Amino acid sequence: MKARHFILRERFMNNIYQATEENIARAAAVIKIGGLVAMPTETVYGLGANVFDARAVAKIFEVKKRPAFDPLISHIADFDALPEYVETDERSLALARRFWPGPLTLVLKRKGQYAGVDLACSGLPTATVRMPAHPVAAALIRQSGVPIVAPSANLFKSVSPTTAQHVYDGLGENVDMILDGGACKVGVESTILDVTGKEAVMLRAGGTTLEDIEDFLNEKVLLSHGEPDRPSAPGQLLRHYAPGHKLRINAETPAANELYIGFGDRDGELNLSPKGDLREAAANLFSFLRQADALAGGRTLAMAPIPESGLGLAINDRIRRAAHD
Ligand code: TXA
Ligand code: MG
Repeated sequence: MKARHFILRERFMNNIYQATEENIARAAAVIKIGGLVAMPTETVYGLGANVFDARAVAKIFEVKKRPAFDPLISHIADFDALPEYVETDERSLALARRFWPGPLTLVLKRKGQYAGVDLACSGLPTATVRMPAHPVAAALIRQSGVPIVAPSANLFKSVSPTTAQHVYDGLGENVDMILDGGACKVGVESTILDVTGKEAVMLRAGGTTLEDIEDFLNEKVLLSHGEPDRPSAPGQLLRHYAPGHKLRINAETPAANELYIGFGDRDGELNLSPKGDLREAAANLFSFLRQADALAGGRTLAMAPIPESGLGLAINDRIRRAAHD
């Protein structure tokens, strides 16, 4: 965890660094020597390491306090990186060309023998890959010269980080560098699509909508809500993304002693999107859950109903898990 002491001379207030060209170059050096860098993506901040470096990958699990059975997504900046460790076919390449860079993660068959990839994939025969649409992530991956494996940069089960400060609040100095690239524009994690079988299966609703994927493939995509006891399916633990206070969802109106997070016309102390825009709501979601936690005091939290279409699928998935007892 001490890589920054070899590379970084100046220390600021903490380990957050503006994503300048110089700091991105330093962060790439940290990745190359096996350190951990938190990087901005369009969805949420990721806690990144070299996917081929098993010790670095192990550190991710340690820092997140994440059980080693939950596999990680690797991030690439160029299509050439794919054949190094995964297999593609016509359908997966077409999806990648259409939706990358962007919030779509593909489950692909693995190839080759790499201890780091093994650990990142929890020994599964598949690997998850995406190309993030964020210039800082792309620059960092290119300069590191390797795919960067990165789960969301938060403690296991807690709310995902959409700012550099959120990363610091959760992981503190256990990360060698946190690159600050501003607030994440999408705000919920990528959609995970398994394309290893005959039919495409959505394993996690996310920043790319089901409607867009089905339109493009011109076929029905199956939905998997995961099995809580089978860790090979993603993000499916029933309690996840959890704020510190109890959360009631689909609340038409607040009850006494509840802090109400509104949506559209249902206004509250906070409102995910006063104009009822699901994109805005997704971008605000995790940050507002944190704010609500901070403001609630002795109260509990309640959230207005969110429409179950487009990005609403991902928002509802996250808040259902956040609300689970
Ligand atoms: O938007 C995102 O996807 C963010 C940013 C940082 O890219 N990353 C993210 O990673 O959300 P994480 O680790 O918090 O969630 C990854 C999910 C997990 O639920 C994991 O179970 C699933 O992906 N996953 C990883 N590899 C898998 C595989 N081979 N098969 C099925 N699910 C997999
Ligand atoms: Mg996560």
